Amino acid sequence: MGPCSRILFHGRKMGSSSLLSCSKSDHIFSKISSNLSQNRKFHKYPSGVSGSNCFSQFKNSNFAPSCVQESRVLVALISRGLGGFRCNSTSVETRVNENNFERIYVQGGLNVKPLVDIIDKDENVIGRDEESRVVCEVEEKIDDGVPVNFEEGEVVVSSGRVESEAEKEAWKLLREAVVSYCGSPVGTLAASDPGEKLPLNYDQVFIRDFVPSALAFLLKGEKEIVRNFLLHTLQLQSWEKTVDCYSPGQGLMPASFKVRTVPLDENKYEEVLDPDFGESAIGRVAPVDSGLWWIILLRAYGKITGDYALQERVDVQTGIKLILNLCLSDGFDMFPSLLVTDGSCMIDRRMGIHGHPLEIQSLFYSALRCSREMLTLDDGSKNLVRAINNRLSALSFHIREYYWVDMKKINEIYRYKTEEYSTTATNKFNIYPEQIPNWLMDWIPEEGGYLIGNLQPAHMDFRFFTLGNLWSIVSSLGTPKQNNSILNMIDAKWDDLVGHMPLKICYPALEFEEWRIITGSDPKNTPWSYHNGGSWPTLIWQFTLACIKMGRTDLAWKAVDLAEKKLPADHWPEYYDTRNGKFIGKQSRLYQTWTIAGFLTSKMLLENPERASLLFWDEDYDLLDICVCGLSNSGRKKCSRFAARSQILV
Ligand code: GLC
Repeated sequence: MGPCSRILFHGRKMGSSSLLSCSKSDHIFSKISSNLSQNRKFHKYPSGVSGSNCFSQFKNSNFAPSCVQESRVLVALISRGLGGFRCNSTSVETRVNENNFERIYVQGGLNVKPLVDIIDKDENVIGRDEESRVVCEVEEKIDDGVPVNFEEGEVVVSSGRVESEAEKEAWKLLREAVVSYCGSPVGTLAASDPGEKLPLNYDQVFIRDFVPSALAFLLKGEKEIVRNFLLHTLQLQSWEKTVDCYSPGQGLMPASFKVRTVPLDENKYEEVLDPDFGESAIGRVAPVDSGLWWIILLRAYGKITGDYALQERVDVQTGIKLILNLCLSDGFDMFPSLLVTDGSCMIDRRMGIHGHPLEIQSLFYSALRCSREMLTLDDGSKNLVRAINNRLSALSFHIREYYWVDMKKINEIYRYKTEEYSTTATNKFNIYPEQIPNWLMDWIPEEGGYLIGNLQPAHMDFRFFTLGNLWSIVSSLGTPKQNNSILNMIDAKWDDLVGHMPLKICYPALEFEEWRIITGSDPKNTPWSYHNGGSWPTLIWQFTLACIKMGRTDLAWKAVDLAEKKLPADHWPEYYDTRNGKFIGKQSRLYQTWTIAGFLTSKMLLENPERASLLFWDEDYDLLDICVCGLSNSGRKKCSRFAARSQILV
């Protein structure tokens, strides 16, 4: 078989002929492309995917999923004797939602190698089992995408207050958006808009979209769905992803996945987890943020539930290391910030955010902080932890020093000398003062400031990107003073950044020639619409978290009140359009799940600020002293970082 004969549309061979039973699986986390050690970054050209499946056999309108495995894919094993399930295992007994993931295997193709071996040869491989065939029978048919295992939400919230009508409706909608796989809840649909004829991929579970849903469930005391989500997406991480003979890095997490019910012969059905690593996504964008969100959610799960056993599992530890491997690998980068292609985060289409966008940097920073907390310290991980510390230190210095703008800094840039050749240049990135946009000169308030959207040689993207700024506050990527100033600026610029609906995804919009060149004349991203200056209610939960951290709950309440008044009446839109967010977005979905979940999470965080404190980070003063460049001791040259440090507003 030549290499190209392995190329699959969506990376998958469908049909029973290509399916292998679990009994033939003999590797945990095996891998197709053996070259994890090759340094891989987040480039999407080309990529591919394959899926996992769980057979379902319908019997008199009941079905019995027998989890089997197709070639080169992974299988989810359903446990024996759980609730409505009767599982006939030929060899293993597992407890669903407890340990069923302990026995998950990947069938390898060519060059199969257990992932754990690749990551760390000294680490023990657990879960390796010779015989793993499990057949399950389900007593009740469960429709694809229909919620299971949930009871009606409580009407009285933890503070003793009665749930508002908006909250009641939101909980009902959130529960209706739950997706189940082999009988267990695994995530929530991106949107459930009954009027929408073309669902595109909004009928999928998006990793980033699920985060507010997960937090809402966790804060409500419901952890099963989050645990399942974390473990299932972990399995998707090790998928073979191959299109056009190229595989992106093994640690890549999908942007989204769908549970499909696929008919087989003789009344048999299989449930398949079908991930999208970007190979189907519009524009083929790389979901760089997915792995970072996955790590952040994993930590939140531990913090809120107290179930730290999950993050200590070898497969979960391996998952963290794979993501970190991908992020920390060497490349041609000159900066400690993560280099990515356009559209690799919440803004998942061309918007001129390739390079080192702030959103990715702030998620990267908090994922590193989460990983440092969660990694089991042993000989196998100590080098990784050292690398994490070094990167955290260098990254926070870089962002604090070079991304920060306020009136004083803009004035400095305005007076910059250019074409400086030396290691001691003030204008290190050769920024031409003419680049400062006119809107910014007028707009920047005397008090407050923010972190710019992106920094590259001779290029500062001065747009204000909300998520990156909010997450810099939450993760303490910014200094305490910067974090305060960002909220002050949002307060001062409330009409522009909040207006009729919290919050602008970025400010201002690209217009005219800039819109044409930078978005490629994208008709969905017209000025003040969608990603181009639209208002996204889901951002309320990050705003709330940042406000609670900085003691500005007044601002969070103001935003939540606005949202509570409008969202139910407008049917929970995905985004709003116009300069101040007055209209429901042109192509906005209604009943967008992360709008609903963002609202609920915000309310619960505001009512339980002590829980909120589990989700943010304080300044790490030790990091400020780490410098690995070695120049500080040599005396020959001066470490530029220490020279610049006086300017950082610690
Ligand atoms: C849009 C958004 C993206 C989101 C997806 C599903 O593509 O840009 O951030 O994850 O919809 O809601």
